[in-house]
Formats: sequence, C-alpha cells, structure tokens
Amino acid sequence: MPIVNRVAALSDEMAAWRHDIHENPELLYDVHRTAGIVTEKLKEFGCDEVVPGIGRTGVVGVIRGRKNGSGKTIGLRADMDALPIEETSGVPYASKVPGKMHACGHDGHTAMLLGAAKYLAETRNFDGTAIVIFQPAEEGGGGGKAMVEDGLMTRWGIQEVYGLHNMPGLPEGHFATTPGALLASSDSLEIFVQGKGGHAGAGPHRAVDTVLIGAQIVSALQSIVSRNVDPLKSAVISITMFQAGTAFNIIPETARLAGTVRTLDPEIRDLVERRIGEIADSIARAYGGSAETKYTRMYPVTMNHAREAGIAAEVARDVVGVDRVNDRAIPLMGAEDFSFMLEARPGAFVFLGMGDGNECHHPGYVFNDNILGHGASYWVRLVEKSMPAG
Ligand code: NI
Repeated sequence: MPIVNRVAALSDEMAAWRHDIHENPELLYDVHRTAGIVTEKLKEFGCDEVVPGIGRTGVVGVIRGRKNGSGKTIGLRADMDALPIEETSGVPYASKVPGKMHACGHDGHTAMLLGAAKYLAETRNFDGTAIVIFQPAEEGGGGGKAMVEDGLMTRWGIQEVYGLHNMPGLPEGHFATTPGALLASSDSLEIFVQGKGGHAGAGPHRAVDTVLIGAQIVSALQSIVSRNVDPLKSAVISITMFQAGTAFNIIPETARLAGTVRTLDPEIRDLVERRIGEIADSIARAYGGSAETKYTRMYPVTMNHAREAGIAAEVARDVVGVDRVNDRAIPLMGAEDFSFMLEARPGAFVFLGMGDGNECHHPGYVFNDNILGHGASYWVRLVEKSMPAG
C-alpha cells in the first residue's frame, strides 16, 4: 500500500480507536468522552503540550520537531462530533447510543490524526512545530469558529492550517483538492410577510393576501440565480418552508418563508443576500404589504489558498502517487466549518476517497478503515515535507 510504512503499522490501532469512538458517538460540543480520550492519548504519546477546553471542548496537542530552526508552525485539524441519526449500518461496533451516530466519519478523522500524532511525537523528524487540532461541533455548531475565537491561531502561533474529509464515491485512497473554493458558504434566510387578514370569500379586495405575496416572492427569488448571478458562477437558493394560514376561508395576515443559500464566492454571497432583501421588500410593497428579511450567515466558503493547496496536492502525490490525486477538483455545494480556520490562516482542505458506499449523513454509512493509513500518512508527510529536518 502506498503509505508511510510505520504509519501503516499503526492501522489496526487506529481502527480500534475509531471503533471505540464509533460505539460512543457524541453531538456538537458535548464531546466530553471523545475529547477525554484524545487528551489522554496525546499525553501518552508524549506531546509537548496538551490543552483541552479550547473552543469549549476542543483539544490541542503540540509536537515540536527535533529541530526548530525554521520557526514554522503548522496546524492539522480533525473533527470529533457525530450526528443525530439512528444507525442502520449493522457493523459489529455500531453506535451504542440511540439516535446518535458517526455518519460523517469524524471518528475516522480523529483516529487518523491521533495516529499521525503518535508517529510524529515518536519520530520528530521535522524542523518546526506541528499542532494537532481536534474540534467539536463541526455539524452545524461552529466549533471551528469557536476554537479560532478562543485564540487557537495566536496562542500557538499557527502559520498554516490543513484539514481533511473522507469522500464516499471517490476511489479508495485517492485525494482531491483545488486552489480556491472547494466547498460552499451556507446561510439561512427567513422572510416575514405582513399583509392584512380578511374574509377569503367575501372580502379579498379589502385584504392584503400574504399567501399571494409569499408565492410571488418564492418565484421571483429563483430569478436571482438565473438573472443576477454570472452564469459561470454558482449559487443555490432553496425556499424550504412556507407557513401561512389557519383555515380555508381566511386570508392570513402574515406568512413566513425560510430557506438556505449556498455560494462559492464571497461576492456572489453578498449579491444574493442583497437581492433577496430587495425582491422580498419590493414585491410585498407592490401588493400593499411589507416584508422583512432576516439573512443569517453561517459557514463561509471553504476557500483553499493557492500555495497551500499546491503543497497539499504535492504531499498527497508523495503518499498515493500522481495518478491518484486530482488537484483541480470541482467544488461541492456542501459546507464545512474548517472555512473559519481558512479565514484566519492560509491553508487547504482535501478530500480522501473511501470507495463505494453510502453517502455521508446516511444511516447506513460505513467509514472505510482501509483509508486510515492514507490519511495518517498524508498528515505526517505534510509535516515532514513542509518543515524538512534536512
Ligand atoms: Ni463531516
């Protein structure tokens, strides 16, 4: 297998750690057991510093190379949280917690980075400092943001930061990344429409119908992607909730629309936000009502920095060979809160192929243990290559 030999020897150990974490999934910031295991293991490996409680339940480990002439410090990040899903995978180490499951492979990400930390703490064959970052609450809780706000980058002087996610559907052991946007921004929107209630049969002419206004707004919002966004750029606007009314013969006084927006470009994100407000407001006014838009920015675009994406691809080629690395991957409209770390420091996110299998967030999802060695090898090569001991 095209992976670092001594890391491959850790594969069974990494799989055992993963299965234990998999059996005991925890959600969002409530990752106390997992963070406890990570803390204990990092100490056992001999990390120079192990600090739990960063960004509430995140853990940071510091590993100094045998030299520190370069003055370089790079961060490697894994996520630890699971999802509120009832597992149906049937694996022998399936979740023991009803309604919770590692259905996005964060148990695998944690095990890989632990494996890399063990190797790096033992060998220290680099010139600089490696920071291993284990974050809580990737699945919608903004744990990456919480760690950055808690001083992650400044406290340990992190200069570059790297992240990795498994990818069902991409062949096993293949890597994919790209300079620029790799994943989308993810925002939510709510539109509150105010009209004038009335008798739907006898007095429609005296009412201001919020169902009609809401319907016009839903349709018109779809013109933003087709008529405001550059056809060569990407955006998604989905209205997923339309709530109004209490009876068949009453024109409702209010209506509420809600939905999600994805973009791959901060300027397009600004444009879409502005146009949603303008369209909702002017349509409501045209019909004699009013609309108030609440646009909530959640995760930014996961924007790889060109130089670091180049380094990531180079390292991946070292580990799995040139044929197995796509360094111009087509971006996906999913989102990642590693994006907050990429806003704070230059860095890159990569996907690691798992082969065939269920998608992430599916109740039958199974993480492929064969890729633990590839992931851990990527991490150690990244450290050894970007901070060579000479
Ligand atoms: Ni995930």
